[in-house]
This record gives sequence, C-alpha cells and structure tokens, in this order.
Amino acid sequence: MCGIVAYVGQKEAYPIILKGLKRLEYRGYDSSGVALIQNGQLEVFKKQGKVAQLEETLLGKSLPATIGIGHTRWATHGEPCDRNAHPHLSKSGKLAMIHNGIIENYAQLKSELVKKGYSFKSDTDTEVLLNFIEDIHIKNGGDLEEAVRIALRRIVGAYVIVLLDQDHPDTLIAARKGSPLVIGIGKGAHFLASDASPIIEYTKEVVYVNDYELAIIKADELILKNLGNEKISPFITQLDMEMAAIEKGGYDHFMLKEIFEQPDTIFDCLRGRLDAAAGTITMSGIEKYADQLKNAQRIIMVACGTSWHAALVAEYIFEELTRIPVEVEYASEFRYRNPIVGKGDVIIAISQSGETADTLVAIESAKEKGALILGIVNVVGSSIARTSNGGAYTHAGPEIGVASTKAFTAQLAVLAMMGLKIAEYRNSISQDRFRQLLTELNEVPEKVKLALEQHAHIEQLAHKYKDVTDALYLGRGYNFPIALEGALKLKEISYIHAEGYPAAEMKHGPIALVDDKLPVFFVATKDSFHEKVLSNMQEIKARKGKVIAVVSEGDESAHALCDDSITVPFADELMAPLVNAIPMQLLAYYIGVAKGLDVDKPRNLAKSVTVE
Ligand code: AGP
Repeated sequence: MCGIVAYVGQKEAYPIILKGLKRLEYRGYDSSGVALIQNGQLEVFKKQGKVAQLEETLLGKSLPATIGIGHTRWATHGEPCDRNAHPHLSKSGKLAMIHNGIIENYAQLKSELVKKGYSFKSDTDTEVLLNFIEDIHIKNGGDLEEAVRIALRRIVGAYVIVLLDQDHPDTLIAARKGSPLVIGIGKGAHFLASDASPIIEYTKEVVYVNDYELAIIKADELILKNLGNEKISPFITQLDMEMAAIEKGGYDHFMLKEIFEQPDTIFDCLRGRLDAAAGTITMSGIEKYADQLKNAQRIIMVACGTSWHAALVAEYIFEELTRIPVEVEYASEFRYRNPIVGKGDVIIAISQSGETADTLVAIESAKEKGALILGIVNVVGSSIARTSNGGAYTHAGPEIGVASTKAFTAQLAVLAMMGLKIAEYRNSISQDRFRQLLTELNEVPEKVKLALEQHAHIEQLAHKYKDVTDALYLGRGYNFPIALEGALKLKEISYIHAEGYPAAEMKHGPIALVDDKLPVFFVATKDSFHEKVLSNMQEIKARKGKVIAVVSEGDESAHALCDDSITVPFADELMAPLVNAIPMQLLAYYIGVAKGLDVDKPRNLAKSVTVE
C-alpha cells in the first residue's frame, strides 16, 4: 500500500505534494520521491526513508514547477532504497510515473522488454509497466493516453498510476484498477491522491475514479474515459469527512481499520501464491531450499509477542502436515540460552516489523552456527528480512495500530502455505487432503468477512465485561494459541489482567481462580478437540464462572453452555485460527474503547521493540 499525490495548477507543485505525502505516510514510508516539470525539463528527486528525508535533500532548492507527482512507498517488489523509490523514469527520460498496487504479470512484461533491449535501474514492477507504456507509445506513435490504454489491457493486478510527460508539460495522465484514486477539483487546479487527506484543505469537491477509468488532467480541465476511449462524465461529490477520519478510512481508530482490512490483507497475502483451482502453492522465497526443508530433522520458530503466537499455531500445522518436529522459542530466551543449533537446522523467524531486537539477534547467532534462516516478515527490506536466507513477506501493508491484528492473520496465512508447501515437498499428506486444505485456505478471506459481521454483538459484550479486573482465555489444539492471543490483546489494549491457558490445564491449579466474577473466554469452535472443550466449559460453569465462547455457527451444544457466545463460520481446524482471531481482536478493541483508552497507542508499548 503506497501513497500517491499529484498536482497541476497555478501554484508551486512541490510544497503541495510534499505536505500531501506526509499526510499519506500511514500508507507507507520506506522511501519517497517527487517528479516535476520545470523550465521544460522533467526532474526526479527521490530518497530512501521517510518523507522528511526527501524534504531535507530538497531544502533550499528552487522548484518553481506548477505540475508534479509524488509518492511514498510501501515496498512490495524490491528493497526500500533510492533506486527503487518512485517516481520512476522511462528509458527515454521523458516519462515519469508513480504507482500504487501490484503488477502480477510484470515478470512476463519485463522479459519481453529485455528482449527488445530494455534494461532496468530498479527491481520494481512499476518501472517495467512504465517502459511497457513507453515502448507502445514509441511503436504506435500515437498519443500517450492511447499507449496507456493499450498497455493497461495487458496488465494483471492492481494499480493506480499517474504519469508526467515532458512533451506535454501541462497534463497528468492517471488510471486505476483495484487501488484508490481521488481527484480534487480546485479553482484552476486539480489535486490527485490515494485518499482525500492531502486534498481536503484545498477543496471538498472530489471525483472518485473507478476501476478501468483513465483521467487526463490539466489545470482547468478533467477528462475521464474508459479503456475503450469513451468519455465518462465525472461524478463530483462533496467531502464530508474530517482529514483525520480520512486517514483512518472512516474508522475511529487505525486498529479497527486494520481489523476490518483483514479479508483484503489475507487475500493479498495469498495472491500470486495460492491457486486452489490449480491445486498449487508457489513460494519463490523458499523454493531454493526445497531439499533442505524436505530433509529437515527439526524446525525452530523464534518470535516475540503476537508473532510468537503465530509460531505456536504454525507448530501444530507444520507437525500435522510435515511430521517434522517443531520447537517454538521466545526469541528473548533463545538468544541467551546458548541453544544447540547447527547446520541442517531450519530457523523460521516471524516478525511484523522485521526489527525486533531479540528476534534479530536470535537469528544472527543461529545463522553463524550454520542454520538456514527463513523470515516471515511484513516490512520489506527490514533487518530480519535482510538477515534471512529466504522466506516470505506477509504483504499486510503498514500496520499503524500498536496491537498486531492484520499482520498476525497474514503471518498465519503465510505459515499455512509454507506448511502445505513443505508437506508437498515431503509428500507427507495425501493429494486429496492437500487440495482440500488449499480450498479451505482460499475460503478464509470470506469467512473472516463473516466473522467481522459480529462486530456490533461483540461491542455489546465489551460493554458488559469492560469493568472486569481479571480474565482467563482457554482453548485446545489449534485454538490454544488463539486463546493466548486473545489474552494478550485484552492486556495490551484494555490493561485488564488476562491469562491464556490450555483448557485442559485448568484442573492443574488455575481453576482455583474461578468464581462468579471471573469471565472465562473459550475459543470453542468445532474441531477434533471439541468434546473435551465442552467438558472444560462445564467445569467452569460448575464453579459459577462466567463462560463466554467463540463457537461455530449452528453449534447449539456449545452455545447452551455459554453465558454469552460469539458465532463464527466453521473452518477446518488448521485454518480456524485465522477466523477465530477476529472476535478476539474485536473484543479487546471494543473493551479498550469502552474504557476510553488510546487503543492505537496503548501506554508503555511501542510498535516495534528494537531494544533488548
Ligand atoms: C502484538 O500485539 C504486540 N504489539 C507485540 O507483542 C508484537 O507482536 C511483538 O513485539 C513482536 O513484534 P514483531 O512482530 O514486529 O517482531
């Protein structure tokens, strides 16, 4: 997810673009850049790091241009660095482009262009698309708009693109499919952006560009067309949201926005990797280690916090599918224990930020001892990603809320695919079971969407339980780590003490805690442990404990045992954690809000723990 801003009008473009990029940094911030046409020349300035770094390099420069494009990047293809930053320049140097989205068939297009003698300065899909457009433009000799239309008909994936053409210094060309684009209508000016937050201070009159539409924009003219070159009359609406709300997509908090993004972020995580119809999983980041994974005698997973919970879920999945012994380690313990690790061991490091100090040091020492390091990371080009030999990005986009939500379910999606892929290498499950699980995983985004529909009911429960001082979270098997995750979410968002436990462990001591004030949250969806979990719920009921459970739709026997229940769609037990995490996240969020707490920035916490 990247941020784009563009301007054409009577004023200097650069200050408007720079301010707009800063407003969009929540969409991505690993590098940024601007392209301007001034004195007839197209000039591009770009820099790794936050927008402030770009601003610093341009301090004092005279930038009189009244037309320009700007971009703040969230890397998907190619490390965060100056050369991969947007805008990109075409081979001729006459076209510049910014892009938000993923061009899935960029490799095919790139090989066609290389055969024609093109070379590339960056690793990005954007530079490929730009030169694909220019190649058509040169070959056809028509106008740039036509070349863009022809090129986009070949594109597979999502995009918003905005182009500058040195030969037409008064015109912007923009197009979208699958990524957002808003055009602000000013007086003798037009503003383009990924959302309205960079626009709202200049105008409240906006046009939301639709998929497969192309916009040709001058200071005083906006033409919309479809890819068939037919004109479309722009539908102008009035903005009725305040800027802060826009950055949050209309949600009250980033955490809630990110919880509701999960059907899309899980889909993005699976995209290009899982093909349930064809029965294939493609994970280019581990393919070269297929033999080592196939013959691994042990897999060690290291992580912290919520990522450690993802590792626990993965332990159950991997052992079930691959029959390779899996050990899950707190990175903070692993790194100091002088662990017995060596060549032949596979270490899987799981981290949203890719900068958690304990996890980073843990894998650095394991790597020195000869282990293979695979990283499951959200931030492209982060330290853990760069230290790993291979792995997979979770593609969840920037996670602004301190509590990890969409990154967690994206980690689970990647780990499920990785477990299935290794099982395929080892031929350790039947083809039928393999295909069935691909179908199950493919259905997860839709089931998460259905689980999210319980939000109003969960908000009511939050008001009922917001004043408790203690809570227990219980689960078995694949749901045990989700119980731990639910307890952590409650602790870090609402500051209520909560403990997660294997449900069967209660009788070994913790059940002494149970009285008529203690809420016990069960993750009790239908799976191979279900009957046992129902017995555990009865144990709590018998001691007057309050039983609140996440149950599978239609599961009347579980529902009958609850004081309150939250229904989720049934999912195969290996995939159920991705769905069952949703009510855990929502419950903690709504309790935190009901208590009037800062749910995006809870006290004492940081988004990335880069200290030991
Ligand atoms: C999760 O909600 C917390 N914010 C925290 O436990 C987090 O998961 C942990 O610090 C690990 O961070 P990482 O995934 O960036 O390595």
